[in-house]
Amino acid sequence: MKNAEYTDAVQAKADAALEVLRRVADEYSPATMANSFGAEDMVLMDLICRNNLPIEIFSLDTGRLPAETYTLMDKAHEKYDQEVTVYFPDATQVEQFVRKEGVNAFYRSVELRKACCGIRKVEPLKRALGDKKAWITGLRREQAVTRTELPVQEYDKGFGLEKFNPLVDWTEKDVWAYIHHHEVPYSELHDKGYPSIGCAPCTRAITVGEDIRAGRWWWENPELKECGLHVAGPSTPLPSERKAG
Ligand code: ADX
Ligand code: SF4
Repeated sequence: MKNAEYTDAVQAKADAALEVLRRVADEYSPATMANSFGAEDMVLMDLICRNNLPIEIFSLDTGRLPAETYTLMDKAHEKYDQEVTVYFPDATQVEQFVRKEGVNAFYRSVELRKACCGIRKVEPLKRALGDKKAWITGLRREQAVTRTELPVQEYDKGFGLEKFNPLVDWTEKDVWAYIHHHEVPYSELHDKGYPSIGCAPCTRAITVGEDIRAGRWWWENPELKECGLHVAGPSTPLPSERKAG
């Protein structure tokens, strides 16, 4: 979205998001920001780094991310003087799952897809959030039918800490206006028809008129398209936590 104009309204949203981030830093330390290196998260990273806020930034490297995400990780590292803490999945869990179910099991059923997300995303996320008082995400209401009611602040019962979504009311255009105005680095995939980026095998480009998350787990029903990072209520047990039999 090259032509998104940086209006006063976008500036006001950026100010409001910064206010939320400052409050998190002041009142919920230690806090951490979840960075998938998608466009929204790059806005949050820019706000945090530009204002030297004492907020950690972490990323979940599932082992199946697209090459463009790794390129952007390096670019962000060059531009901002802030480490991104990377969490990897537990190697034994990945080995057992892949040996039993194969390397691309997620295409076979929603259950297997959720099991893969459980091992590659949710378990590392639990470790990332373990010693934190709050976490920050780039979720926006506009993104999905599962996200229309999102608040700016909520208690995340599943992970047991406060959760902040400073960009809830941002439109896609607002995000791109901010990115271009502040020359924020972003993934090359966004210029190739990918508005939403996850793991490489579970993300594809969309065509004009398609929903922005149509390229995520495109073989599944839209109501099911959450991977366990963002769940209301008690967290879903990981495969390793389920009782046998
Ligand atoms: S997902 O649940 O469907 O994968 P989505 O890609 O829309 O989520 O991202 C929503 C928010 O979840 C991001 O703004 C980011 O805060 C967090 N998130 C998603 N994937 C990751 C990741 N790999 N590492 C860190 N945070 C992530
Ligand atoms: Fe596995 Fe796909 Fe989930 Fe990534 S998005 S963790 S590859 S099922």
